[in-house]
Amino acid sequence: MRFVFLGPPGVGKGTQAKGFAAQRGIAHISTGDMLRDAVKNGTPAGLKAKPIMEAGGLVPDDVVLEMVGERLEYEDAKPGFILDGYPRNPKQAEDLRVMLEQRGLALDHVVAFELDVEAIVPRLSGRRSCPQCGAVYHVAANPPKRAGVCDKCDTGLIQRKDDQPEVIRDRMKTYAEKTEPLIDYYRKAGILIPVEGAGTVEEVRGRLEAAVPVEAA
Ligand code: AP5
Repeated sequence: MRFVFLGPPGVGKGTQAKGFAAQRGIAHISTGDMLRDAVKNGTPAGLKAKPIMEAGGLVPDDVVLEMVGERLEYEDAKPGFILDGYPRNPKQAEDLRVMLEQRGLALDHVVAFELDVEAIVPRLSGRRSCPQCGAVYHVAANPPKRAGVCDKCDTGLIQRKDDQPEVIRDRMKTYAEKTEPLIDYYRKAGILIPVEGAGTVEEVRGRLEAAVPVEAA
């Protein structure tokens, strides 16, 4: 049960990955979350990543490869994993293939979430995140019980710096130029599963579960 969740910024990869991973007892590995932790903790990788993330670019491949390689060794990743936000360009896809091959593994499925640009921008601009526990909300689609406060740990919610309109534009451009070609790459490899990302969180979850039933995982 080794998955990649692919798709444009804000399509809902993280939202779907959390529930899907918990339901199947596999690890949810988000390179965006790992990089944000590194930035918060001021590690060397975080210091390198911070200005790049704030500008909507891609952090160097070697930095991300090392993080993912270490994370795959954790016990919770042994039964399987979802890579959310990795790979993000052809070099990373090749790095991943080699890294898995060295462990005698391969990807089973690449789920590609699809959504029109017009629907993406409101999802990103309405996103609020908990800087403490990482919970993700949306001001309209998935609001916290008390406005601006995390349901799980009572911390004040924040808006990600890269969710500002001008950075969203740059992230979309980076996605189109560098990441979107992976859809064809995995289609040719015969492991691509497209999933329509429009509709409510529950509707998308239903489509995802129908596309990858437990027995097929
Ligand atoms: P990362 O954190 O991976 O950002 P991303 O790919 O742009 O994806 P997002 O987290 O923005 O969106 P998502 O698809 O997970 O959507 P979500 O579920 O939150 O990366 C950030 C940065 O880190 C990158 O720009 C890059 O600089 C760097 N980075 C990361 N990985 C890297 C790599 N491999 N190589 C190099 N650099 C890397 O949903 C969005 C919002 O919509 C939420 O508010 C949610 O509540 C809401 N929502 C979700 N689903 C629905 C729905 N069905 N209906 C209504 N609202 C919904």
